[in-house]
Amino acid sequence: MVLQDKYAPNTNSAFEHYQAEHRLSIADTSAYWGEKAVTELDWFQGFDSVQQGGFLHGDVAWFVNGKLNTCYNCLDRWIEGRGDQTAILWEGDEPTDTKAITYRECLRKVCQISNALKAQGVKKGDCVTIYMPMMPEVSMVMLACARIGAYHSVIFAGFSADAIADRIEASGSKWVVTADEGLRGGKKLPLKAICDQAMAKDACRGVVEKCFVFARTSKTVNMETGRDVEFDSLVAAQRPYCPCEPMDSEDTLFILYTSGSTGKPKGVLHTVGGYSLYAKVTMKNSFDLKEDGSDVYACVADAGWITGHTYIVYGPLLNGTTTFMFESTPMYPDHGRYWDMVERHKINIFYTAPTAIRSLMRFGDDAPNKYDLSSLRILGTVGEPINPEAWRWYYEVIGRSNCAVADTYWQTETGGHVIANLPGAVPMKPGSCTLPCYGIDTVVLDPATGKELEGNCVEGVLAIKQPWPGMTRTCLGDHERYLTVYMKPYPGYYFPGDGCRRDEDGYIWITGRVDDVLNVSGHRIGTAEVESALVAHPAVSQAAVIGFPHEIKGEGIACYCTLTVGVEESDSLSKELKTAVRTAIGPFATPDLIIPTASLPMTRSGKIMRRVLRKIAAGESDQLGDVSTLADPTVVQVLIDKVEALQ
Ligand code: PRX
Repeated sequence: MVLQDKYAPNTNSAFEHYQAEHRLSIADTSAYWGEKAVTELDWFQGFDSVQQGGFLHGDVAWFVNGKLNTCYNCLDRWIEGRGDQTAILWEGDEPTDTKAITYRECLRKVCQISNALKAQGVKKGDCVTIYMPMMPEVSMVMLACARIGAYHSVIFAGFSADAIADRIEASGSKWVVTADEGLRGGKKLPLKAICDQAMAKDACRGVVEKCFVFARTSKTVNMETGRDVEFDSLVAAQRPYCPCEPMDSEDTLFILYTSGSTGKPKGVLHTVGGYSLYAKVTMKNSFDLKEDGSDVYACVADAGWITGHTYIVYGPLLNGTTTFMFESTPMYPDHGRYWDMVERHKINIFYTAPTAIRSLMRFGDDAPNKYDLSSLRILGTVGEPINPEAWRWYYEVIGRSNCAVADTYWQTETGGHVIANLPGAVPMKPGSCTLPCYGIDTVVLDPATGKELEGNCVEGVLAIKQPWPGMTRTCLGDHERYLTVYMKPYPGYYFPGDGCRRDEDGYIWITGRVDDVLNVSGHRIGTAEVESALVAHPAVSQAAVIGFPHEIKGEGIACYCTLTVGVEESDSLSKELKTAVRTAIGPFATPDLIIPTASLPMTRSGKIMRRVLRKIAAGESDQLGDVSTLADPTVVQVLIDKVEALQ
């Protein structure tokens, strides 16, 4: 293969090395990962076998009977040698509010938090819900859970009380850690009050025993006697030493709820050994980390999503690197904030999402040009396909045509990157996540037959052919759903739910979800969740939610709602319906378009023709295709007119 591209590295040998190493890594995944496990992680007890089980039965296990602790590998391991190096470099909402926490300091505080949790009754195997702002303590609580063998369930602080209650109920979590308030873009978010609402719901009654409250703004909040605990003083009173619980490699490290195409969000479960190894190795490879830990690495995601778990907390600390944590937004106090931070903290590696790049690009080049961005070496992108225009702006204006852009494709379930270009080794193509990571055996399948499509220039669905350590092992409490969603669609393969194209050079281009999952600003939202929030409103009898192309968010949310007989359309009703979705899920899921309608385009057998709805919302009503099977074709024109009037 000869790649003639201006984004190719100067030498071909690095690329050839990648190709050879990748071939080896998938020829014998056990040999590859077995060796990595020994060299990259510290074990209390070695493992008996590298890998057992497979996709077919959904019983994959890695590093069987090995014992280790993830927190040990993140912190204790680095004390000798890097104890005084900054582990967490934090910048708060105000640019002047910064903190540098060394590995030694971080370990002390994590031990204190561990002891405080234990003193309150948290035990190995318990689930701890974390609903916190981006303060350093959020990482520390995650690490403390890992240390004592509890597993965390972090809920992004933009989720509503309803969403929290659902997740607490599903996980049976007795423990909640939160803060009085969050602070973002100069605005205060009443996190404890939202937790209070969640804990008061029927779903949570009798479930939560204790709610630990950190002070972020020191606002006086409601504290329920017997349940709520002021955590800062309790933590400060603890000894700064706490032994690490030896965990089985296959014990649970955390669960993270994510949206699927049907029903309630699923608790994607990750394990101690496999996830830790995968987080460490992909972090090191995709961002070409310096072995001595001297990089200043910034991922500006939120800890509440998988990107935050793997690439703010675990990946960087497992590698002994300095991880930057950011509490605010890219627009506060102005849209130069990211670049100002790069200059002030001399950030070397910067990782964000296409939606952020697009929203900053709109303001032009003046803001980035004001700052010294010469410390940057690698720019990462994640969350959705990046459009070539945004890619080029990132590469040219932010990276000054001098940095590698790492387009990292992965998902909550994969634990870490599965397709990404190795900076400096794999030639880049704007918009393609390029080639699989080591140990990842990707194929393109024909969606209809499930057969592997050989050769290049093919399009189908993406699948992975062999287990890898970072893959999710189950959905908490619902293994059947796990099998149905990931393992059964194409037996013998893991199915991530994305379509893709393999181009003439063998490069992968993700074409987006092939199920009913939306990707809005890099956030995954199930259409079924939005629909159920809408039909819970008395004015709506039926709802069909679809995504449509959105310039900044990637995808916008359009909700077609059939109103209950007698209910009139109005702006205030549309507003109410938007609020209903915000209340059920969270503000990030707010619909862009509410389209009230008397009826929806249905086939004669009663199925909603979503394809037609998608085309209408996308403004492509001239490409509706065959609508002859519709029970009543006249509804189509009515909807076209309505959407045109709204846009
Ligand atoms: O559709 C893919 C898209 O985001 C989905 C995973 O979402 P989530 O589990 O929330 O994790 C987001 C952060 C990893 C995938 O199924 N996706 C993620 N990264 C990319 C992407 N699509 C194209 N290119 C990417 N780099």
